Amino acid sequence: MTYLTKFPAWSKLQAHRQQWHGRQLCDLFQEDKSRFEKFSLQHDDFLLDISKHFVTEETISLLLQLADEAALPAWTNKMSAGDKINHTESRAALHIALRNKSNQPMLVDGVDVMPSVNRVLLQMRNFSDAVRAGQRTGFTGKTFTDVVNIGVGGSDLGTAMVCEALEPYASKDISVHFLSNIDGNHFQQITRHLDPETTLFVVASKTFTTQETMVNAETARLWLVNLIGDSRAVTDHFVAISSNISAATKFGINKENIFELWDWVGGRFSLWSAIGLPIALYIGMDHFEDFLAGAYEMDEHFLNTDYRNNLPVMMAMLGVWYINFFDVRAHAVLPYDQSLHGLPAYLCQAEMESNGKGIDRQGRSCEYLTSPIVFGDAGTDGQHSFYQLLHQGTQFTTSDFIVAARPVHNLENHHEILISNYFAQTEAFMNGRGEKEALQNLNQQGYEDKMIKSLLPYKKFFGNKPSTSIMYKQLNPRTLGKLIALYEHKIFIQGVIWNINSFDQMGVELGKELARSIQNEIHDNKPVTSHDLSTNGLINYYKKLRDN
Ligand code: F6P
Repeated sequence: MTYLTKFPAWSKLQAHRQQWHGRQLCDLFQEDKSRFEKFSLQHDDFLLDISKHFVTEETISLLLQLADEAALPAWTNKMSAGDKINHTESRAALHIALRNKSNQPMLVDGVDVMPSVNRVLLQMRNFSDAVRAGQRTGFTGKTFTDVVNIGVGGSDLGTAMVCEALEPYASKDISVHFLSNIDGNHFQQITRHLDPETTLFVVASKTFTTQETMVNAETARLWLVNLIGDSRAVTDHFVAISSNISAATKFGINKENIFELWDWVGGRFSLWSAIGLPIALYIGMDHFEDFLAGAYEMDEHFLNTDYRNNLPVMMAMLGVWYINFFDVRAHAVLPYDQSLHGLPAYLCQAEMESNGKGIDRQGRSCEYLTSPIVFGDAGTDGQHSFYQLLHQGTQFTTSDFIVAARPVHNLENHHEILISNYFAQTEAFMNGRGEKEALQNLNQQGYEDKMIKSLLPYKKFFGNKPSTSIMYKQLNPRTLGKLIALYEHKIFIQGVIWNINSFDQMGVELGKELARSIQNEIHDNKPVTSHDLSTNGLINYYKKLRDN
């Protein structure tokens, strides 16, 4: 395998990058009046506008040359053929099988996984229909009103984000709650207002060993049994989603209440599996199937569309362009949609746990940047928080602006204001405000000349900040499925270019291991000496505060 920076396209892109010094994004539109049409991609109602980027056709062909040289087509084939592209864990990454609406065989180790996928989907349908219809009740015969998902990371963030986003499609009779943090506050905040007789716990853990989830599940079991006063209640009030069936059974969950997960599904790509059970309980299985269908449509688009018109490929390669050739280290995800409030947090894990790696597939250090820091918030809240830095700070950051043309509510005037802000921000990022305009603005505000002179530097916006605009008709289960799959493929593609394994997460292990050993040292009041001096000092200070 040739090192990434040795690819011919890499040097060509480096040379091409030089041409961009001092150029203004807004001038590109003067040079080519059809730039918006040329650099907007469409797939169904989805629009991906990349015209506000430092790209020409030459840039794009060089980026696509890089994709070819990094063997993106071959890696895509390997991914969809169920090859063990997660080489460090010797696993496939076949989450596309979970939404494979064609039902064509998809193989892992020569075995078609579709029968298992369909079996669990049917199990989800039967279970969620029964709970929603009040046929499946709690121990005392009462209908479930609350579902508590106990899980963390990939077993929490996606499900929580989707439930929040699709709340308009939800049953008014069921509320969903997400217990993830080991902090006892989280448990108490959630259970404080719950009635154990009408609460269903979904223990979501691929491994069924994650400490936070296991401790929260045990506390939940105790809470339930104490309040109901009968340990047999566990059978009716707990279900599990896991690939570790024996551990789930050992916990006390009946076999028929365990929804199987497979090792070819990575945690952060698992919301399409039974990990999505709370989604099905909340919005119903038909809507969940629509959500899968949307993702499948994006999969088909990715797998069958030429790269120049391929949404995930273009998004991924633009990221590579900025990260590797403009030294961009942070990327903002800005949904102008309160329902997508959880999307930035979800993508933090999806992108950073996948591509936050510095060792390539051959075990060598990457001498190039990989995943940026991903952050964001729902517009317009973000505007009143971190946009100042984006507009006038010293970091060069890229952003994705996401919006639906039509709201799901009927407060049209709100949506008009929201979407005007969406347009205004991408315009302001690109065009900024020059000296002449800033001067005019200050004059209009009636300042004296001396004040105008001193304020002028602060009122200028340099602009030239690239952004991607994503727009679709309306946020619904199908659209959301598409949107999430778009980002999943982007992550996969960037991992291929950077020659890293996007599907393991060894970086989260060290802290976990140390925490376990520290836990054994903090029970008594003996001074701790086994760590570095700072950590010893902190632990000992903690003991002093705790014990006095
Ligand atoms: O954060 C590490 C991690 O392994 C994630 O990849 C995963 O999503 C999360 O923990 C939860 O894991 P599990 O579903 O096995 O409890």
